[in-house]
Amino acid sequence: MTDRDAAATAALDAGETLDRGGLAALQLERLRSTLEHAYRRVPFHREAFDRAGVRPEDLRSLADLARFPFTAKSDLRGQYPFGMLAVERSRVRRLHASSGTTGLPTVVGYTDGDLEVWAEVVARSIRAAGGRAGDTVHVAYGYGLFTGGLGAHYGAERLGCTVVPASGGMTARQVRLIQDFRPEVIMVTPSYMLTLLDEFERQGVDPRATSLRVGIFGAEPWTEEMRREIEERFAIDAVDIYGLSEVIGPGVAQECLEGKGSLTVWEDHFYPEVVDPLTGEVLPDGEHGELVFTSLTKEAMPVVRYRTRDLTRLLPAAGARPFRRMEKVTGRSDDMVILRGVNLFPTQIEEIVLRVPVLAPHFQLRLEREGRLDVLTVRAEARADATPADRAEAARVVAAAVKDGIGVSVAVEVVDPETLERSVGKIRRIADLRGDRG
Ligand code: DLL
Repeated sequence: MTDRDAAATAALDAGETLDRGGLAALQLERLRSTLEHAYRRVPFHREAFDRAGVRPEDLRSLADLARFPFTAKSDLRGQYPFGMLAVERSRVRRLHASSGTTGLPTVVGYTDGDLEVWAEVVARSIRAAGGRAGDTVHVAYGYGLFTGGLGAHYGAERLGCTVVPASGGMTARQVRLIQDFRPEVIMVTPSYMLTLLDEFERQGVDPRATSLRVGIFGAEPWTEEMRREIEERFAIDAVDIYGLSEVIGPGVAQECLEGKGSLTVWEDHFYPEVVDPLTGEVLPDGEHGELVFTSLTKEAMPVVRYRTRDLTRLLPAAGARPFRRMEKVTGRSDDMVILRGVNLFPTQIEEIVLRVPVLAPHFQLRLEREGRLDVLTVRAEARADATPADRAEAARVVAAAVKDGIGVSVAVEVVDPETLERSVGKIRRIADLRGDRG
């Protein structure tokens, strides 16, 4: 063990130093009480268990969880606003909501205990990312009903950091704050980090010369190519934080600074499964499918086998912690475009666009219908110094790479610098203009 490893291990909390056997025992105990709590307190879960012919006491091993019914986002919406709460309203200390693309938002509630756990798992995440007590953390995730801002905020405070609650937007001011307050850590969506990059350049400030050491990026899928771009342009380490409001918010899984490439799932609080998205069958670790979570310690809104629609696979534990890891989420079944029978994710286009030197790391996908055919146009922005010939060549390279790599023809439009809309939070990559799709 190197000194650095030893120091990192010394800083692990009690959950992180369990052995695999201790973890499994804790998970089983916590799963049982979660199922019991959900069954007793939430009519939706009681009815779902009854319909499936299972009782909380039927869980004798972790594998028995597969007998319990799934919960879908639509189930949560159907219980709007408070049907999923398992405690009296007076014990709910905070509400958040995620706005869906359609209809009602999904409401989530937290007790004092839930807020404690959330702060702990985010503190753990920041520490795994390389943040330390005494660091200053610039939080540019949106504050409000979105869980990003406040989730990051209380986690950073819990770790003992100084927090700058910048929220999203007012981009020129963000650059000023970063120069003046000299944070070591920034927490922000990767797409908004690129917006900040433009602003550094516009103000003539060298983004590589800031005090920033680490960026903790999440709330949307991003690729290794995007990591390379951000790390090089800012001279920082870029690591991935994953989470979703229904499960708690940010801080469900975290990429460690010394183990980039996969995220450690905080599975003493959130029990992961990966299932076949079509049949719902549980897949063995290592196989790709849809990520499903059951909360282990939540009081206000326990979730039972919640279908995230995020696609990934589980990997064995590595390093000092007993927890399994998951591969970076690069696709969400909702964002998958089926183009003439071929499945395509925006991150696949990101990988291609970011490899073309004359293109800026900004792109959008426009989906239209021409006659009976769906047509996808990749709109990518040229860098300022690209010549017309560079642009034509870039368009040709992107179209060919999509055809070869993904197997489908797309149109490519290389647009002028600074013309595509910039992100201030979660970016929407796809504009679906096919009118008849509702
Ligand atoms: O985005 C929570 C969060 C805030 C996570 C800040 C990380 C940082 P929701 O708004 O409920 O919650 O959206 C959750 O965003 O199911 C994924 O599809 C996507 N997502 C979140 N983190 C990542 C990530 C927050 N690191 C949904 N990589 C999730 C890929 C992510 N997708």
